[in-house]
Amino acid sequence: MKAEVALTVESTTVHVGLSERSYDIHIGLNNLSTIGELAGELGDISHVVVITDSNVRDLYGETVLKSLSQNDFQVDIMTVPAGESSKSVSILEELWQQMLSLGADRKTVIVALGGGVVGDLAGFVAASYGRGVRFIQIPTTLLATVDSSVGGKVGINLPGAKNMVGAFWQPQAVLIDVAVLESLPARDYHAGLAEVVKYGVIQDEDFFNQLENNVGLILERDAEFMRDVIARCCELKAYVVENDERETSGLRAILNYGHTFCHAIEACAGYGTYMHGEAVAIGMLCASRLAEALGRITSEDTARQHNLLVQLNLPIALPQDLKREPMVEAMKRDKKTEHGKIRFILPTRIGHVELVDDVDEALALAAFN
Ligand code: GLY
Repeated sequence: MKAEVALTVESTTVHVGLSERSYDIHIGLNNLSTIGELAGELGDISHVVVITDSNVRDLYGETVLKSLSQNDFQVDIMTVPAGESSKSVSILEELWQQMLSLGADRKTVIVALGGGVVGDLAGFVAASYGRGVRFIQIPTTLLATVDSSVGGKVGINLPGAKNMVGAFWQPQAVLIDVAVLESLPARDYHAGLAEVVKYGVIQDEDFFNQLENNVGLILERDAEFMRDVIARCCELKAYVVENDERETSGLRAILNYGHTFCHAIEACAGYGTYMHGEAVAIGMLCASRLAEALGRITSEDTARQHNLLVQLNLPIALPQDLKREPMVEAMKRDKKTEHGKIRFILPTRIGHVELVDDVDEALALAAFN
């Protein structure tokens, strides 16, 4: 079954069709308080555990707890420190122990309330506790709404190896409140926009055109426009996930456009120097330049990406003093590398990308500049 988008004045639903693992993504304005009703509809629940972080709890914890408490199940909340370091074995173990202390069982439903870190961590608690319990994603960053909360990739980091331990575990539902965008710091919001641009390049030229023509609305965080932007990204991602849930056919790999360069930049610049979306923006331009060097795309199409990313306040180049050679070495260590060959997702035009795995290292090195 293919993804469907049903637009109404106030809210949009995107369906992810995965047989018995199908679910809906509900996208609306000020709809956080509907979480109680949404959880209640799952049925056969004794207990809901909200997993969130210290920042998000202050902003949205009360609304979510109040809505959930209108049902007759037990409601608890577990809070982890904000930041990537919470995606660790030690925090995971603490959460398992707390779940046990709270009497969590197979009828417990986890609600992941937060950005990508919380979604990945709470999702992995759901995938592993009691050999798997149900969970609902409530993403609260732009990046999480358009990418990590959809598609079931959950997990934690090992020291020096991001997302190395995890699972494919689909949520029962995703609830997106576009109002959360208002509270995001400018840098987080702009970083999230890099993944939005990515969908236009990899799958949908019309969508890319719409972004180019509406930069003002995007920068103003216009709720109605951004609701439709998020819905389109979710629809495009749903199509990919429906057709390659476990990343076996190569289709899901297209979501990694710019990410081979991005992961090397993150590792060599030092984690935290660039936000993930910022490194994605630079990485997409590196990938497009590489595609140009291979005669796969025109310089005009690279320029369109460059111009849009600049208008969205994203970085587009690396500092000169950041050494390029170690980044090529880092690319070779990427967990998506196969038999020592670095694989790239490269565009052939705006709206279409291909997997390319026989690239000369010297060309990859040159693409950083
Ligand atoms: N974020 C890439 C994926 O979900 O496959």
